Amino acid sequence: DKDYLIAPSILSADFAKLGQEVDNMLEAGADVVHFDVMDNHYVPNLTIGPMVCKALRDHGVTAPIDVHLMVSPVDAAIQDFIDAGASYITFHPEATNHIDRSLQLIKNGGCKAGLVFNPATSIDYCEFVKDKLDIILLMSVNPGFGGQAFIPATLDKAREARKFIDDNGLDCRLEIDGGVKVDNIKEVAEAGVNMMVAGSAILKEPRTKESYKETIDAMRE
Ligand code: DX5
Ligand code: ZN
Repeated sequence: DKDYLIAPSILSADFAKLGQEVDNMLEAGADVVHFDVMDNHYVPNLTIGPMVCKALRDHGVTAPIDVHLMVSPVDAAIQDFIDAGASYITFHPEATNHIDRSLQLIKNGGCKAGLVFNPATSIDYCEFVKDKLDIILLMSVNPGFGGQAFIPATLDKAREARKFIDDNGLDCRLEIDGGVKVDNIKEVAEAGVNMMVAGSAILKEPRTKESYKETIDAMRE
């Protein structure tokens, strides 16, 4: 396992060329494909679903696909993404009535499971399901759109989550999502995060493998 994983969010990809975009970002050194699912109900935007995840697998993508569910309810979508080849599936605890059951559903499907916390949501939700968590994902923007500014209070929350993971000896990634750029990724890493999502910072013009590599290399540095 790498110490730090970089997960470009395909929300900022050119959707008309999605297969090529994902190939380019992986060849540029991305570790994970971050896949944002929005339902125009839990969040005010509408994106992509399990058919697109399956299409990426059929296209030959073998890298982990990190499905971030911004949908409510979650259980039917979880099953669809298990069948579509997801690797990690995370959901927002307030989007389901039965958090433990939804986590168990993900694990039963052979995927890694995690909870996602909005900027104002407490990570207390982790306490009684800690043994089922492979990922804790902290939103550093309000979910729904790419290209928003990083909310600095997330850094304190990251330190709190890092302490929770370490104090409990959990084998759990700490992931952050929203507004991560070359110029703040060091602070994010120092706060204990080891899986960084970045959409607009990586997937931007001129949209070449070389330009993606330049940003990913700078982030690793
Ligand atoms: C926001 C999504 C993010 C988003 C990140 O709801 O969950 O994954 O694409 O985009 P940037 O990195 O541009 O903030
Ligand atoms: Zn996301």
